[in-house]
This record gives sequence, structure tokens and C-alpha cells, in this order.
Amino acid sequence: MSNHLTIVNACIVTPQGRTARKGKEMNELLTIPCGTVEVTDGIITYVGESRPCDGEATDHEVLDAKGKVLLPGFVDSHTHLVFGGFRPDEFIWRLNGESYMSIMQRGGGIANTVSATRRCSFDELKEKAERFIDTMSRMGVTTVEGKSGYGLNRDTELKQLEVMQAINRSPHRKVDISTTFLGAHALPAEYKGRSDEYIDFLIKEMLPLVRQKQLAEHCDIFCEEGVFTVEQSRRLLKAAQEAGFGAKIHADEIVSFGGAELAGELKALSADHLLHASDEGIRSMAENNVVATLLPLTAFTLREPYARGREMIDRGCAVALATDLNPGSCCSGSIPLTFALACIYMKLTVAEAITALTLNGAAAIGRAERIGSIEQGKQGDFVLLDADTPNFLPYYTGMNAVQVTIKEGRILK
Ligand code: NIG
Ligand code: FE
Repeated sequence: MSNHLTIVNACIVTPQGRTARKGKEMNELLTIPCGTVEVTDGIITYVGESRPCDGEATDHEVLDAKGKVLLPGFVDSHTHLVFGGFRPDEFIWRLNGESYMSIMQRGGGIANTVSATRRCSFDELKEKAERFIDTMSRMGVTTVEGKSGYGLNRDTELKQLEVMQAINRSPHRKVDISTTFLGAHALPAEYKGRSDEYIDFLIKEMLPLVRQKQLAEHCDIFCEEGVFTVEQSRRLLKAAQEAGFGAKIHADEIVSFGGAELAGELKALSADHLLHASDEGIRSMAENNVVATLLPLTAFTLREPYARGREMIDRGCAVALATDLNPGSCCSGSIPLTFALACIYMKLTVAEAITALTLNGAAAIGRAERIGSIEQGKQGDFVLLDADTPNFLPYYTGMNAVQVTIKEGRILK
């Protein structure tokens, strides 16, 4: 038996297309002030103006949107949502003036979470990730990217990825998780002074294993002064692309380091953070269709300057927004605050921010053909706002304007 959902009287607001929207295109949204959407077996089968007969068929579940705004489900395309422990002390040390990198260099930071994650059981990690997912789902997220990177050894990296795949297999899941192998998140203590050997281990042992087990779609690296070099990043990401992974990169987060340029050279799916991306890096991302993924919550919590979002769009980039939810630099998955910071401080328009959190987020994880806009043939993932204008997204600052989230035609409670 097939499942139907019909949403009537919705103010449909959506980007359009099956690829990232670049530059000026990011501001172009389709608006249908009184629209109907039909979903059959999880896929959108009709989008258009509401007709008098819409919603009358008795075998359809009908949702009357009463004129409120219906958007594509949000795509949070950069998170580290599977991890053990928390690091609230480090947050306070940073408030007192210590830097993110100095905490990392004296053995805290990512290494702290690695120890906690290695100790956690599969079930503990899964339950914790599911609690985050519940919260994110209530804020309208229907697809989330999740990275490994808190194992830094064979078994724990696999455990993190397997947790995400187990969540994906649940028929009642609230989000789909797009998984990324981030074995190169930091150098594990076991490889101190031997970072090239660690990259060799990732290339020779981990990439083939992760591929063979089909545990991750993408490969990412923390390319940063004091972590992994541009050359090491190039070597790992090239090998990953050859093995069939999409390439992503933590680029220019703490200093300007050439990460954005490398992303352009490799035609990576995305370069993320970009607080200190150079002009040349921005040009290279625009030219090579790399999605510039901006994470304003991280800049906010680290008290760093925001990435140059306005300029990136004006120079023709496709910009995505994501939360970076993680236990260290940014322990927040707040979509409402992400919207507010993007519009207030990075000077994106509301339409651009919507494109960035939907279609461009989808493109950043290679899923723009399936999700990210309200169009026939795409997955029936939506957010219904408790508002009749999308301007509520930044205006209702840091508060949740979502009335209901719909995943593949299922109204989530
Ligand atoms: O995206 N910069 C590297 N990775 C994360 C932080 C990870 C952590 O501190 O645990 C980030 O900011
Ligand atoms: Fe990150």
C-alpha cells in the first residue's frame, strides 16, 4: 500500500535546481503563496498552486498549512555529532583568554574527546547521537552530515561510522545521515612525530576498509597550521577521490593556510570554515564549483571574525551554512542562531541563507539531485514554520520558528 501526504494552503518557499546555486542565484527563490504539495511513498509527486479539490481525497493524509511557510527540510552539512564526553572546562578556559590551538597543543582539545570516544560503547554513542538528532529535527533538520574523527584508530573510527549507519537503517529515523571519514582530524598520540606515516596508514589501510564496508561517502581532513599540511591534505584527498570518496576539507579555520586554494585545485565537494580564506582561495572555489560551507556558530563561540560570506557570494561562490556541532569549538547545533548570525553578521539575505541551508547544503554532500528543494521527484522533506514569512528565521532570533518537520512525507511528532 502506498503512503500519501497532501499539504494544502502552504506558502511554499524554495530554491530550485539539482545543483548548487552560485552567486546571485542564491537570492532567487520560488514563492507560491497558496500552494499544494503531494508526497507519495516519500517522493514529491506534485507542487503547484492549491486547487479547490486539493485535500479532498479520503485516502490521503492532509495537512492544512493555513498560509504558513513551507520550506525544504534543512540540510546541516557539517557536524561531528557522534562523540564521547563533553569539554565544558575548555570552553571556560577559552572565555578566560586561552586559545583553541594552545589547548589542543597541550594535549586537550580533540585528543580529550578521542579518549572519551574510545571508551564509549556503540550503544552509548548511538543514544547520545540520537538525542542530538531529536533536537535538530525539531529545528527543521531532515538531513545531517556526520563525521568520524574521534577515534583516530581503526576500531573507533569504524565504530563512529557504524553508529551513523545504524541510525540510517531505522525506518522511523528523523534524519538521514551523510557520513564522512575524518580519520585525519588530528594526529593520534601513537603517531607523535610521524604524521606522514599516519597519512600513509589512512590511505593504505583505512580508506580501502571504509570503502569496502561502505561506511562513508566523503573524506575530510583538518588542514591547519600545527595539524595537517596542505601537502598531506592533497595526498590524502587525492587518494580518497581515486577510491571514490567525495573530498571535503576543514580549511583556513584558524589561520590563512591555502586550504581553500587546495579545495579548488582538487574540485572538492566543499571547503568548510574559511574564516581566513584568501582572495585567491575564494576565486578558486567559485571557479571550480566548490561549495563554501560557512559555520558562523564556531566563529561566534571562538570569538573569531566571521567568514566573508557576503563577499564570497558577490564573487560567485555557492555558499552553504552548517552548524559544526562538536564537543570542542562549537557545542551547538542551533539552526535558529545559525540563521541569525548569517544574516546579521555575514550579511546574507534571508533568501540566500535559506538556499545555503537547503539546496547548497545538499550539494555540499553530493545530494542536490535528491533533496534541498521542493520539486517533483525530490524527497518529501519539509519544514513548516509557525510564521507566514520566512523573515521570521533570523528575526525570531535564536528561537525556534519551526511548527513541524516532515521527513519523507511522515509528519514527525
Ligand atoms: O570543525 N577544527 C576541527 N574540528 C572541529 C573541532 C573539533 C573539536 O574541537 O573537537 C571544528 O571546529
Ligand atoms: Fe568541523
